[in-house]
Amino acid sequence: MKPVRFILLSSVILSCVAVAVGVTAQRDAAKTVNDTKTQANRNPVDAQDAFSPYVDQDGNISLPEDYKQKWSHLGSWAVAKKPGETVHEMHDVYTQPQTISDFNKTGQFPDGTVLVKEVRKTQSDRLTTGHAAWSADIKIWFVMIKDHKERFKNNDHWGDGWGWALFEAKDPTKNVSAGYDTSCIACHTPVADSDWVYAYGYPDLKRSKR
Ligand code: HEC
Repeated sequence: MKPVRFILLSSVILSCVAVAVGVTAQRDAAKTVNDTKTQANRNPVDAQDAFSPYVDQDGNISLPEDYKQKWSHLGSWAVAKKPGETVHEMHDVYTQPQTISDFNKTGQFPDGTVLVKEVRKTQSDRLTTGHAAWSADIKIWFVMIKDHKERFKNNDHWGDGWGWALFEAKDPTKNVSAGYDTSCIACHTPVADSDWVYAYGYPDLKRSKR
């Protein structure tokens, strides 16, 4: 083969290979975009905002189902009606495992933090340890969800940087709070300085003591 023809032929072959590689790369890129789209379609909330699996596009809050199995226990409150009386409710507070380390790094609850307060009835008796009260059936759950971006300004369950909800044991699918202004905020004003959270009750959070 003459040198000129050889060079011509080689460059034709090379361009064909280049075109083929280009087409494959484009096809792969299109496939990735399609895969991402399919995932997004499966979860409309993620597509919109990627904010929280417990909040829909309108700001409706649902009770996390697996907090007990997968989350961290922040602390417990043993509540009696009067000093010296038997504890009549146990309040156990849970959050995602990441909350504690993030809070201890930044001093803030990260966006999407969920605090679940599970309220249980108690039983009590004189045991070998002393007069003991222990947790019995669940009565209600209080839920707070951190929102750094004020996403749901027109929704009564959102305000002061949090979403606020209340669920009863008889129907855990329904938020029965009348709105955070009516049902929640007054009782949380004593802790307005710690982002409306009774943080001094949670020993793993680095915070100012009471
Ligand atoms: C009667 C007063 C009162 C009302 C009303 C109230 N809270 Fe609380 N809440 C408290 C107190 C006090 C604590 C901590 C001590 C305890 O549980 O005994 C607390 C703790 C919590 C916690 C655990 C995190 C934290 O702040 O320490 C959540 C979550 C919570 N409340 C959500 C709510 C929501 C949501 C509402 C409204 C639907 C609400 N609360 C209404 C008094 C109240």
